[in-house]
Amino acid sequence: MIEVEGVTKTYPGEPPVQALRGVNLTIGEGELVGIVGPSGSGKTTLLQVMGTLDRPTRGRVRITGQDVAAMLDDDLSHLRATRIGFVFQQFFLAEHDRVIDNVADGLLYAGVPLDQRRRRALDALELVGLSERAQARPTQLSGGQRQRVAIARAVIGRPAIVFADEPTGNLDQTTGQSILALIEQLHHGGSTIVVITHDRVIADRMPRRVEILDGQIVADTGPPAPADRHPCPSDASSRPSDCSSRPSDASSRPSDCSSRPYGDGNQRGPLADQDRP
Ligand SMILES: Nc1ncnc2c1ncn2[C@@H]1O[C@H](COP(=O)(O)OP(=O)(O)OP(=O)(O)O)[C@@H](O)[C@H]1O
Ligand SMILES: [Mg+2]
Repeated sequence: MIEVEGVTKTYPGEPPVQALRGVNLTIGEGELVGIVGPSGSGKTTLLQVMGTLDRPTRGRVRITGQDVAAMLDDDLSHLRATRIGFVFQQFFLAEHDRVIDNVADGLLYAGVPLDQRRRRALDALELVGLSERAQARPTQLSGGQRQRVAIARAVIGRPAIVFADEPTGNLDQTTGQSILALIEQLHHGGSTIVVITHDRVIADRMPRRVEILDGQIVADTGPPAPADRHPCPSDASSRPSDCSSRPSDASSRPSDCSSRPYGDGNQRGPLADQDRP
């Protein structure tokens, strides 16, 4: 799903900064990966390069098999708008727009008409447990609620991949845990998720951890063994047959195949019309 091959990133300046030095990383569909490392080690740079927000100085990035370097800017924008969701530490909400419109903006470049954008924004807000604050402004929300708005905006387009840069960095521990639970729920719904964190406790909850130091990957626990993976990847065609005959511990999962938040082959919304009460 995401392939990073021999990637370097040098920021120009006096002296230039070598933020990434030969990074190789492959992330498979449906994985939940934590990227850890000290401040300045290159985590955000790696995330931006993987998320096509920035181009590597050298090396190759492929998203779902497509070489990002070979793509035109328009195609890249389309890829981002339709396949990728971002959650940033600073939330980046428009303070004067209502919550519903902040979330609806996640579909701005996907060519969806306004009334549909708003309808789907409500669905996404319901997913993060905030539908009753849809008409509020971000300034009237707590930090954790803002982060949930940012997550709703990131997932409204039903992206196959979600990149989150320190999504709990500005939150107290309890709120951070609930955001993490939400991320895990999205993962169980089939999304591929990459989370940057400097928090060891959070990283330890990730099925796969990648450690970065001075622009290089110094440790990688690798993808979990097939038996430990969630059996419901987002691509229906690659979904194992056991998805419908789920193991008996299904009740312990945050969500299951039949109540996937939005990962149903990326064909339906977080809560499609037919699922509404
Ligand atoms: N736009 C930029 N121009 C020049 N140098 C940059 C730029 N962005 C990042 N850097 C440098 O690249 C290195 C890696 O930065 P990066 O933001 O990727 O680190 P990080 O691991 O995300 O750190 P933090 O945990 O503090 O967010 C740092 O030395 C940083 O100063
Ligand atoms: Mg950073």
